[in-house]
Amino acid sequence: MGTTRQMPRPASAGVSAQPAGGSAAGVDRHAVEFRDVQIAYGKFVAVRDFSLSIAKGSFVTLLGPSGCGKTTILRSIAGLVDISSGQISIGGRRVDDVPIYKRNIGLVFQSYALFPHKTVFDNVAFGLKYRNVPKADIARKVEQALAMVRLPGSEKKLPSQLSGGQQQRIALARAIVFEPEVLLLDEPLSALDANMREEMRVEIKKIQKATGITAIFVTHDQEEALSMSDRIVVMNAGSMEQIGTPQEVYETPATAFVADFLGKANMLPGIVASVDGLKATVALAAGQSVEVVSPRPLSQGAARAARPAARRARSPRSRSSPFAPSSCGRKS
Ligand SMILES: Nc1ncnc2c1ncn2[C@@H]1O[C@H](COP(=O)(O)OP(=O)(O)OP(=O)(O)O)[C@@H](O)[C@H]1O
Ligand SMILES: [Mg+2]
Repeated sequence: MGTTRQMPRPASAGVSAQPAGGSAAGVDRHAVEFRDVQIAYGKFVAVRDFSLSIAKGSFVTLLGPSGCGKTTILRSIAGLVDISSGQISIGGRRVDDVPIYKRNIGLVFQSYALFPHKTVFDNVAFGLKYRNVPKADIARKVEQALAMVRLPGSEKKLPSQLSGGQQQRIALARAIVFEPEVLLLDEPLSALDANMREEMRVEIKKIQKATGITAIFVTHDQEEALSMSDRIVVMNAGSMEQIGTPQEVYETPATAFVADFLGKANMLPGIVASVDGLKATVALAAGQSVEVVSPRPLSQGAARAARPAARRARSPRSRSSPFAPSSCGRKS
């Protein structure tokens, strides 16, 4: 339990095309489901009471500070770390006992983890060869994947002949070329410079939409999460604080932690003066009162972090909006 497993091969090369076995494959609308999952490293519980359903084709981001358990959750989907209790399903099939190489998962990490002495072609083709895909199909699929990441014709290059951003594109091509059920991305942009990061954000979203793949993205960058995701899971110390659309977690943070993590500047402390369903009037420490909406019922007298400035000033369609237009209002 809680043991970290070593990948026998480079991470994004992934695994097998074999179905994991079990029930109702293909009819479940959830790509990934966690039920009451706990993950411990020895006595240390890194993730607790974690339940989450991720709809097929959606882009879900795990957002939270360093050490909150984001990578641990991602690794548990890939089978790189064992869960201590609860269950994980992929495509409606429980995978608790399914080894890494039988999970059809694409992985992209912060460090590109390309084979340094293999060409781009061989790097991208790796997962296909592993699955015994016919040679002619391999060539065609590699070509398509390289076109998708906008590096056509780079087959003969070595990773060392590419920039960091280009290497990350190759890592992405390698992860999607075998059409995995789920694409896991662990801080794939943090090693890139600001301009490249921005470009890759757009690029990753485009590819995810074009392929319809389910993507689970990990970041501690709020802007990245707000601009890319259909839904954001805000994590804190191994627990889920809130799940919602970018707009929901930004405009109606469920806890002070979420409000703080998604933008301290607009947070005003106060006391709940009156409650009307999910709406409440908060008496601010500075004297004024503001109306707030909460995703959870509030009780009178409770301390509350309000974000009135954000609610008035921010519109999902405004130019300064932190949200991607496509992300608003969609649920997974
Ligand atoms: N192999 C391990 N053995 C023991 N503890 C571990 C191990 N891997 C992670 N942890 C601990 O589990 C907790 C969650 O780690 P995890 O890597 O999931 O965090 P994270 O949210 O991805 O952080 P970061 O943003 O820094 O990557 C941390 O406290 C970490 O120290
Ligand atoms: Mg991490």
